[in-house]
Amino acid sequence: MHFITDPIEHLKKILNHPEGWNFTDAKELYAGVDLGTYKTIAIIIDEAGVPRAASMRKTEVARSGLIVDYVGALNTVHDLMEEIRKHCPIPIEKGATSYPPQTEYANLKTTTYILEGVGLEVLKVLDEPTAANQVLKIKNGAIVDVGGGTTGIAVIKNGTVVYTNDEATGGVHLSLVLAGNYKISYEKAEEIKTDKKKNREVLPIVRPVIEKISSIAATYLEEFDDLEKVCLVGGTCELEGFKEIVAQNIGLEAFRPRLPQFITPFGIALSCLDANEDSVRV
Ligand SMILES: Nc1ncnc2c1ncn2[C@@H]1O[C@H](COP(=O)(O)OP(=O)(O)OP(=O)(O)O)[C@@H](O)[C@H]1O
Ligand SMILES: [Mg+2]
Repeated sequence: MHFITDPIEHLKKILNHPEGWNFTDAKELYAGVDLGTYKTIAIIIDEAGVPRAASMRKTEVARSGLIVDYVGALNTVHDLMEEIRKHCPIPIEKGATSYPPQTEYANLKTTTYILEGVGLEVLKVLDEPTAANQVLKIKNGAIVDVGGGTTGIAVIKNGTVVYTNDEATGGVHLSLVLAGNYKISYEKAEEIKTDKKKNREVLPIVRPVIEKISSIAATYLEEFDDLEKVCLVGGTCELEGFKEIVAQNIGLEAFRPRLPQFITPFGIALSCLDANEDSVRV
């Protein structure tokens, strides 16, 4: 048995660091693959859910939650898996992936083919909030996943996702506003936005976009009157002050786990371990 105290922290430590990958005593290995708008990530866990390896690359294979570059996506997942398999003494043959809420029809077959194309038997294709809740274990509440190009909204009752919606606004739009405001390139804006030391100067400029994201989320969530809290995941929630703006607009207590961008991908990997009824079986 391979012991670690904090799987998410461990994940961050080993991400793209093969020297930290450890497959000792693993009986079975599973791959969780997240094909996001901003990045593609493959996380390998063992039969106990412990992260053993993780590889990530910035990609532009998805847009507004849909895979727009099938070959690019296939090649990226192939490269990530090949890199991991090169270091791994036992086969990695099973995996899971996910899709943003409301994109099931468009994404289900595509993502399944991509995993099969890299030699993974697909155990699960589940929606992203259900994946996130594998980690968060919320019983009654909401999840808002603000990624690169999309914001996914989900309501959970008695531990099950009962409602989802998706909005094509995310971190990309924050960077675009920043680029316009400073009259700089998108890439430079992205750099400034993700520099924690510059959060204080960035926040007032991107505030209207955050307010727009949260007011859309609020509209979806207002139908549910007994929500206890909202949990924020996705890379955009890393921005200092983001949580407070969302909480104010939605009128619910907001909670942001540490390293919010790894919650959904880690949940995808964990979903391989139990076949519950919430997910789409293939
Ligand atoms: N420290 C940070 N501060 C602000 N924004 C950040 C930070 N780190 C990452 N981001 C932003 O988070 C976004 C990526 O989030 P995430 O990794 O959850 O996206 P994704 O899953 O690839 O996209 P999607 O879920 O929309 O398909 C990008 O817009 C990126 O600029
Ligand atoms: Mg995402």
